[in-house]
Amino acid sequence: MTLTLNSPCDMHLHVRDGAMLANVAPISSAQFAAAVIMPNLLPPILNADDALAYKDRILAITGESFLPLMSLFFSPKLTLQEIRHAKNAGIRLTKLYPQGVTTNSAKGIREILCEENLQIFENLQNEGFILCIHSETNGFVLEREHDFLPILAEIARSFPRLTLVMEHISDARSLEVVQSFPNTFGTITLHHLLFTLDDLLGGALNPHVFCKPCVKLPRDMQALRDVAFSGNPKFCFGSDSAPHLRTHKECSQCGAGVFSAPVALSALAELFENHGALQSLSAFVCENAPKIYHFTPPQKAVQLRKARFDVAEEYGGVVSLFAGKSLSWILCD
Ligand code: NCD
Ligand code: ZN
Repeated sequence: MTLTLNSPCDMHLHVRDGAMLANVAPISSAQFAAAVIMPNLLPPILNADDALAYKDRILAITGESFLPLMSLFFSPKLTLQEIRHAKNAGIRLTKLYPQGVTTNSAKGIREILCEENLQIFENLQNEGFILCIHSETNGFVLEREHDFLPILAEIARSFPRLTLVMEHISDARSLEVVQSFPNTFGTITLHHLLFTLDDLLGGALNPHVFCKPCVKLPRDMQALRDVAFSGNPKFCFGSDSAPHLRTHKECSQCGAGVFSAPVALSALAELFENHGALQSLSAFVCENAPKIYHFTPPQKAVQLRKARFDVAEEYGGVVSLFAGKSLSWILCD
């Protein structure tokens, strides 16, 4: 039995830079036609020139059959001139990180709704940009995403022509808010569809499922599954695959980020199949994203075969989800 996915897209991906980029980018480009590339490098990708140089480094590894959709790290440096420069360079995405909420977000925003940012939102709206948001506050860990919802709603109401993407939704209550505004959409990861707090710390602590926002309650996972399995057009797949070296995961001060790229499509196929939802996988991973973000991915027919996939213990020093385990769908060469 085979399954063909036409131009699957990963709308939230960390490929890092240098040796790590060379290690992980081919894993994603083998499965996806396009991906939104996160700008949280050190230092972050703040402007179009840096984004284009980064894009070239990615394409040098993946080849042109993979479309990296570059995003700019939201900062006060995003002047109208810089926004227009980026637009002319084909960049239409910016990613807002509240300060300190996740890996490499020290240069993020302290006060989201300050006057200066409202002006930037206005400019982004006028220039047809998409604002992707890491929607968490610095509050209590299980409430961070929920506490951010009034901020998201305020931006959505004030800038009705600005497309907002709530990234890596983890809380059932966010799904309702995203569905209540015409200009809000959401990405959903594999790990938030698969895991709850029990998988992270119910038994022995598992650093490989530690991420921001953290996985939550069974009812949150179930609500995320419900929208993904229904193919709801407000939501699309964004893996948030975020590689950290094993030494940075299996230690104290473990970094936040789940590396799921090697298993992304196989594990999604298995999950959707197990819940009788295989017919919605294409909406979730192929069709919804181009409609939300208004882009055309390169033609890429990706085939999976129903056969045992033994996941490697490590990919260049990085531990993947399901490392050393097996899945029931394998990517055809
Ligand atoms: C991401 C990373 O490692 O860059 N980590 C994570 O836990 N998701 C950053 C992010 O997307 O929050
Ligand atoms: Zn991320």
